[in-house]
Amino acid sequence: MAFSAVSAPARQNTSRPRGLTRVGLLTSGGDCPGLNSVIRGAVLKGIAYHQQNYVGFRDGWRGVVEGDIVDLTRAGVNGIARQGGTVLGTSRTNPFAGGGGVEQVADTLARLGIDAVIAIGGEGTLAAALKLSAHGIHIVGVPKTIDNDLGGTDYTFGFATAVEIATEAMDRLRTTGDSHSRCMIAEVMGRHAGWIALHAGIAASADAILIPERRTSLETICRWVSEAQTQGTAPLVVVAEGFVPDHADDPHSERGLDSFGRQRLGGIGEQLAPMIEEVTGIETRATTLGHIQRGGVPSAYDRVLATRLGTAAADLVARRGWGRMVALQGVEVVDVDLRAALAELKTVPGHLYDEAAMLFGGPGITAIA
Ligand code: F6P
Repeated sequence: MAFSAVSAPARQNTSRPRGLTRVGLLTSGGDCPGLNSVIRGAVLKGIAYHQQNYVGFRDGWRGVVEGDIVDLTRAGVNGIARQGGTVLGTSRTNPFAGGGGVEQVADTLARLGIDAVIAIGGEGTLAAALKLSAHGIHIVGVPKTIDNDLGGTDYTFGFATAVEIATEAMDRLRTTGDSHSRCMIAEVMGRHAGWIALHAGIAASADAILIPERRTSLETICRWVSEAQTQGTAPLVVVAEGFVPDHADDPHSERGLDSFGRQRLGGIGEQLAPMIEEVTGIETRATTLGHIQRGGVPSAYDRVLATRLGTAAADLVARRGWGRMVALQGVEVVDVDLRAALAELKTVPGHLYDEAAMLFGGPGITAIA
């Protein structure tokens, strides 16, 4: 992944003018619309207000472990906020695996004259940041995930864009479903939490919303589907990839593990389709949205949120808030302890699911047990 918008690579540039704090930025884990807005926000604010200068690590922790950097200048980040993906590249490299670790990271930072690191990432990235910070590395975090499941922050950037994409896709599935009188299933991302399914499901008036937090039997799902058809609509079901039906023990996974040892999920929609068809007699099709939800330009909301988090990260470095991450609480951007933020995933609370479930299932057939 090339960094086209900046000046020539400065792979071994260790120069640091006096009085300046040299900050290294990295984007790690799955990409997410809004990453470039964070980068731009931090670079513009840090250079203009905090006597910081910036480099970017290429491809997440790989760039940290190997010391692979590019200069990030004010001119270089012009215009990147509206671009999807990350101009720095990302990877699921684990800094503690394969010869990395605290010493390797500390050596690289010292060799490159980097005083502080801003790590933009999800659960795995921020857990690594916390571990490094506990060993004295000057590091702050910026929470990132389209799944919106990180603690300590009300919303993560990228989530709103993913919900827009999923909603539009479901609206499209609805019209083809209506034409053919079929049941349509949209599978969305959401490994541990069903935020995307919940929000897109409400927005697209889904007839069933299936999330990891709420076990549901095939019988109940089929009742909702049949009821929707009775009421004259082609049933539309949204299912999060991490949903576990009553009859299963684990989320559907047949693609092995990623480098953090997590199961690669996906396929529950395809698995449910023939079961629903058999029980209800309604022809059923499944569509997995997959990485389409992570690609493309960020929404205006996500650009604003990500920019605010980026500028706040530059402020946090200036305040030497090591081991903390910036976060959205209400309408304010604050900073919170990484350990506290990572203590628990932010899953969909039961009452929010119940609010949505009252809208489907029909009278007397609600989703609420
Ligand atoms: O963590 C965010 C996420 O989008 C999950 O919902 C999904 O399981 C995972 O990333 C897939 O990531 P990849 O296929 O890029 O490793």
